[in-house]
Amino acid sequence: MFDLTYPVVRPILFSMDAERAHEFALNTLSIAPRWWAGIASITSGKPHASLAREVAGLKLAGPVGLAAGLDKDGIAIPFWPSLGFGFIEMGTVTAHAQAGNPKPRMFRLVDEGAIINRMGFNNHGSEDLAKRLRVLREDGHWPTVPVGVNIGKSKITPLDEATEDYVTSTVRLQGLADYFTVNVSSPNTPGLRSLQDRDVLADMLPPILEAAKGTPVFLKLAPDLADEGVADLVHLAREVGMSGIIASNTTIRRDMLQLDPNEGGGLSGRPLKPLARHCIQVALDAASGKLPVIGVGGIHTAEQARELLDAGCAAVQVYTGFIYKGPGLIGRIHRELAAR
Ligand SMILES: Cc1cc2nc3c(=O)[nH]c(=O)nc-3n(C[C@H](O)[C@H](O)[C@H](O)COP(=O)(O)O)c2cc1C
Repeated sequence: MFDLTYPVVRPILFSMDAERAHEFALNTLSIAPRWWAGIASITSGKPHASLAREVAGLKLAGPVGLAAGLDKDGIAIPFWPSLGFGFIEMGTVTAHAQAGNPKPRMFRLVDEGAIINRMGFNNHGSEDLAKRLRVLREDGHWPTVPVGVNIGKSKITPLDEATEDYVTSTVRLQGLADYFTVNVSSPNTPGLRSLQDRDVLADMLPPILEAAKGTPVFLKLAPDLADEGVADLVHLAREVGMSGIIASNTTIRRDMLQLDPNEGGGLSGRPLKPLARHCIQVALDAASGKLPVIGVGGIHTAEQARELLDAGCAAVQVYTGFIYKGPGLIGRIHRELAAR
């Protein structure tokens, strides 16, 4: 169905400002009647049973998940699994609701299959998401696939109070989210990436893990870190008892672009792939099979997903490929992986 409809829908969405198109699509999904999800589910299909896997104790329906940032406030949670995602990550949410950066702040680079964004964690706050998750659980509408929540630092919180900010959100969401991701790698919150320092994280992560009370916690890294930095943080994550690594977030580099639109923010999609691939490999080598690594960055085809899984990734996530290739991409990747 999506393979037939998205070629018609995409030009309409792409004729709109990127963020407006995103909001329009997301709001539509959030109010979509249940039968839409039913039809989507029939056409996208659940991942084949042979693709189900356990990662850090989480039962993924398939290895392809929704990356953080697309549904920050979790407004379309019941819909995502019907598109065939094996797991879904909401957020980034912060302890304080915040508006994010001034608009425009999301840009498509259509010829490059890329997006630049400097959203700045626009979200309604972790309290609001916790309420939404509680209602889904209490009403019996919790998805059949794991739902993670990606947590970041509020802009108004000073860097030296970052730990409390992450802990506040973790406490609110504990018992509701199936897993957490500690996001210290977005380029759009001033100073956030400085938290990727080994000594800083060595202090920050244990209280967050304590607040998570056994819920798996992943660490999401930037592709702009030096190799030793990535390896150091993977070792640290293992030492303190994190459940895995997500590599990678968007890049601030632009040298791989054919045409640089000169917009600040994080670059994702096709041009990110080689850099993310490198970061993922460094993480895999450092983890040496003892800590799961979830690969993300520039996946637009089943072949690219397969390459990461073959390299040793426990699972993968997609964001920009979903925007360019449409909702049918996830079912297609899973089908091609299963047919192998
Ligand atoms: C518009 C946009 C917003 C994003 N917001 C977040 C976010 O809030 N938190 C986060 O951890 N990653 C965020 N990301 C990064 C994605 O989760 C992903 O790591 C990155 O885009 C690379 O994957 P891709 O090439 O498949 O998009 C965002 C990406 C985009 C394009």
